Amino acid sequence: MKSSYKKNNYGRVFFGLIEAYRSVNTVELGVLDGYSCLWIAKGLKYTHDIFGLPGHLDAYDLWESYRYRHGDMESVQKLIDSEGLTEFVTLHKGDAFEVHKNYDKKSVSFLHVDISNDGEILERIMELWHPKMQGGAIIAFEGGSKERDKVDWMKKYNKKPIYPVIYKNEIINKYYVYGTYKLFPSLTVMMNKFG
Ligand SMILES: C[S@@+](CC[C@H](N)C(=O)[O-])C[C@H]1O[C@@H](n2cnc3c(N)ncnc32)[C@H](O)[C@@H]1O
Repeated sequence: MKSSYKKNNYGRVFFGLIEAYRSVNTVELGVLDGYSCLWIAKGLKYTHDIFGLPGHLDAYDLWESYRYRHGDMESVQKLIDSEGLTEFVTLHKGDAFEVHKNYDKKSVSFLHVDISNDGEILERIMELWHPKMQGGAIIAFEGGSKERDKVDWMKKYNKKPIYPVIYKNEIINKYYVYGTYKLFPSLTVMMNKFG
């Protein structure tokens, strides 16, 4: 299974976030081969088994409609089934910039965003998804370290860096407390401090 998260064992971080925050209504944007999806689902199974929480993950990807590196929905479904996680995950085909419409205001408790992130994507996601987040909700956004802003494709395609956006974005700085796990590829975790 391909994933830039694998090398530094970020799966454990996703599991830990779900466990710590007891997130229930969870959404992922960007699945690829299912690495982060699987670990979020493992966290949901754990909080279900231990605390009886009814957690669920809606995981969205463009799959074959994405022109760059993407995964295959059927293979990810098989992986989830083989791990006994079927009841905790629904895979969808959908665009990260459209599917927020599927959710009511303040209904999402955990959002993971991993769609070949850059600074512009962070700004658009905050604009669209912040109204959907509950008080105390978590947004986990891949990237945020200075090292991650220097990866080849960010420079090649002249993408807006993520790091400066985090510290300047009005929504983030008004409504969230945040920090970045710095090991590559890095992960910025923001908690909605209201509610
Ligand atoms: C970096 S990969 C995701 C990696 C995955 N989360 C992991 O744990 O390894 C990016 C994924 O985002 C998907 N993607 C890109 N743009 C998207 C969009 N606008 N909406 C939904 N998915 C998108 C791609 O198809 C690709 O599978």
